[in-house]
Amino acid sequence: MTWTNPLAKTLNWSGEISNQAQKEKVAQQVSYFVEDGDVIGVGSGSTSFLALQAISKRVKDEGLKIQAIPTSKEAALNCAVLDVPVTTLTAARPRWGFDGADEVDEQNRLIKGRGGALFAEKLVIASSSKTYILVDKSKFVKQLGTDFAVPVEVDPRAIHLVETKLGEYFNPQSLAIRMAVSKDGPIITEAGNFLVDVRFNEITSNMEREISGIPGVIDSGLFFDYPLEILSV
Ligand code: 5RP
Repeated sequence: MTWTNPLAKTLNWSGEISNQAQKEKVAQQVSYFVEDGDVIGVGSGSTSFLALQAISKRVKDEGLKIQAIPTSKEAALNCAVLDVPVTTLTAARPRWGFDGADEVDEQNRLIKGRGGALFAEKLVIASSSKTYILVDKSKFVKQLGTDFAVPVEVDPRAIHLVETKLGEYFNPQSLAIRMAVSKDGPIITEAGNFLVDVRFNEITSNMEREISGIPGVIDSGLFFDYPLEILSV
């Protein structure tokens, strides 16, 4: 199947995605888990889009009734384009969900948030009894954080406090506020916050909790100890 993002034309984007064949295979696999009446958490990123596309085909072909809980505006837009009805975490609880990841280690711990939707993604994952993490082979790493910084979402009022505390507690290699492509200013998340990309020397099992404990941190891109199942080819 050749995949074309229906948004590509509207957004004047080529629609090209990395490792597309592998992503399409896992997208197809996850679509088989859909049952009539399901409420499903829908992740962000290209693999999640492919999965939603495969799910939407099953929904149409088999007349299934489902509702999606999108983890970002991008995911909500994809649901709209693919005619998948949406609800919210306030109104419903997902039976299960799916999402992509930036890195997966041998203990199935993740780094997410390259797309900046980490907070809503974590809320949906933590609210679901199970989330399938859909990844191509490039996402598997021996050690988290070697190729990828850990994104930390921060209330702008707390940026100086959080930078200081991250430095004191973890002595990171580097710490940078994520800037807009134009470099005119910081990227602002959907919830109105900054993203700080932090390169740690070492990522330890308490770090997700320790980072979240700093006042002003909304959440980090470390996803440890959630009910996840990794799907890959
Ligand atoms: C967004 C994410 C994405 O799931 C992650 O970046 C994977 O993206 P893709 O499926 O396009 O490779 O964490 O915050």
